[in-house]
Amino acid sequence: MSEGRVVIVTGAGQGIGRAHALAFGAQGARVVVNDVGSAAEDVAAEVRDAGGSAVASLGDVSDWSYGAELVRTAVEAYGQLDALVNNAGLVRDRMLVNMSEQEWDLVLQVDLKGHFVPMRHAAAYWRDQSKAGTPREARVVNTSSGAGLMGSVGQGNYSAAKAGVVALTQVAAVEMSRFAVKLNAIAPAARTPMTEVVFAQTMAKPESGFDPMAPENVSPLVVWLASADCDITGRVFEVEAGIISPADGWQHGPREDRGAQWPVEEVGPAVRRLLEKAPPPVPVYGA
Ligand SMILES: NC(=O)c1ccc[n+]([C@@H]2O[C@H](COP(=O)([O-])OP(=O)(O)OC[C@H]3O[C@@H](n4cnc5c(N)ncnc54)[C@H](O)[C@@H]3O)[C@@H](O)[C@H]2O)c1
Repeated sequence: MSEGRVVIVTGAGQGIGRAHALAFGAQGARVVVNDVGSAAEDVAAEVRDAGGSAVASLGDVSDWSYGAELVRTAVEAYGQLDALVNNAGLVRDRMLVNMSEQEWDLVLQVDLKGHFVPMRHAAAYWRDQSKAGTPREARVVNTSSGAGLMGSVGQGNYSAAKAGVVALTQVAAVEMSRFAVKLNAIAPAARTPMTEVVFAQTMAKPESGFDPMAPENVSPLVVWLASADCDITGRVFEVEAGIISPADGWQHGPREDRGAQWPVEEVGPAVRRLLEKAPPPVPVYGA
């Protein structure tokens, strides 16, 4: 599926990103394994030990100049870049009323800007390739979350960042269609260092049989979305265990056009009439 393709996976030193890197390596891709720490080197070595090809690149994906360096690393090591899997992320959970400015800023910086920066530099590379008459079958897979799709109590910063990832994916999918790049996002669930504290019970490995919450279960969809065979763009998929499910996002709802400005006293009854016709929102996680 991925034979010879060059793929960057961010935040691949552990958890879901590590599973992606190993899956790409097993499918014959050449992998650039990013993380902030030396775990990226360990995972690149794991890919190579399994017979694949990988190099490590250590750096913060939200850093503008590092984003350029990450793309350059792929091109210098392997001569090209075919796919970017934005997976790096972190959480700083806190009820909004207690959340610090630092907790807000860090999560928005890593989880949202940390998607934009590598995409921006990869996009410029693919545009240049297209202009030079050597277009690539380029793909981007971004990582949102159920928290970004439905909201999650105690995760206002993370939910906002992950909703932003979806909006960014939708816009970029249209903009980058000009040079044939296809972009999609996933909202995964798996047992990783990020979830092992809160979901230790519900995500525990069974004594035998299929291990539904193993991070490896998320990777086949990502490998396909990053492949030249993927012919869709701008969509979001929830993925966990053996389940793949396209998520249905915001839709325009019923409407009333008064043909003139609404008097404030008529607004409440109109809103209630409209909401009787609109489908109820999916409950926020943890509500
Ligand atoms: N595990 C789940 O159930 C779940 C659910 C929804 C979404 N997600 C998302 O999936 C992705 C992977 O999650 P995970 O559970 O494997 O988490 P994890 O914490 O196990 O791994 C995330 C990795 O990202 C790296 N990282 C953090 N900041 C970075 C930065 N600035 N630059 C480069 N790397 C950085 C970390 O060092 C770590 O290795 C994240 O985007 C997460 O938000 C996970």
